[in-house]
Amino acid sequence: MAVGIFDSGLGGLTVYQAAAEALPDVPFVYFGDNANTPYGVRDAEDIYKLTTAGVTRLFEAGCDLVILACNTASAAALRRMQEGWVPADKRVLGVFVPLIEALTEREWGDNSPPREVAVKHVALFATPATVRSRAFQRELAFRAIGVDVEAQACAGVVDAIEEGDMILAEALVRSHVEALRRKMPEPDAAILGCTHYPIVEDDFKDALGPNVKVFSQPALVAASLADYLKRRPEMRGPGEVPMFLTTGDPQRVSDQATRFLRRRTEFHAA
Ligand code: DGL
Repeated sequence: MAVGIFDSGLGGLTVYQAAAEALPDVPFVYFGDNANTPYGVRDAEDIYKLTTAGVTRLFEAGCDLVILACNTASAAALRRMQEGWVPADKRVLGVFVPLIEALTEREWGDNSPPREVAVKHVALFATPATVRSRAFQRELAFRAIGVDVEAQACAGVVDAIEEGDMILAEALVRSHVEALRRKMPEPDAAILGCTHYPIVEDDFKDALGPNVKVFSQPALVAASLADYLKRRPEMRGPGEVPMFLTTGDPQRVSDQATRFLRRRTEFHAA
């Protein structure tokens, strides 16, 4: 009954943690492509190849359902995967839809025409590849009208977090928020559209100030996954064993993950 969680590196542990709390009986298999992180500076073809390789490994580990926790993979590869690559008995789901449903106050599966929503000026913080894909704007346009989106590609933040340099990460967050404010002085909502950003969520909140509602993915994705498994319990795959897999150096990744999750976490070679 295992469920797979895919990320380009360690950031997806934010989604893993929320999902494991919401669904304590589900064994999760986590795959971090640490050898190839960051994805945010790669082209769409490259992201597609890496993502399909990682998801194949999760299928092999007994997962029939895989969550692409990585926004960059969700933005640049998911549609192509769903259109022609995912086998009929498997599912691969991304992280944009739960986020946009929360932003537009929609229930799951509400496919009614786009309508006016409470938020009008939305700041999107994401990796360069996610911003370039315009996947967020595309999904939003299916559900809402009259929403102005300003996207800020947050170069460097993922690398700083993966390196554990939180002082640099905080400085970069501040400068990206300032850059966003030059384009959109008064956003009423902000989307943290990268798995790594919840780790520096307080820095985003500080820099944005109290009038900006910040939407962060882990809890939204976990709630949406719990809901999905209630409707589709058969999508829990045959795997029984929770695992953490990495394409990087297992020792180094285990040490970093232990710091993030604040408990000993052992990664194995994928
Ligand atoms: N985890 C990816 C995301 O959510 C970002 C990290 C990367 O650039 O690889 O967008």
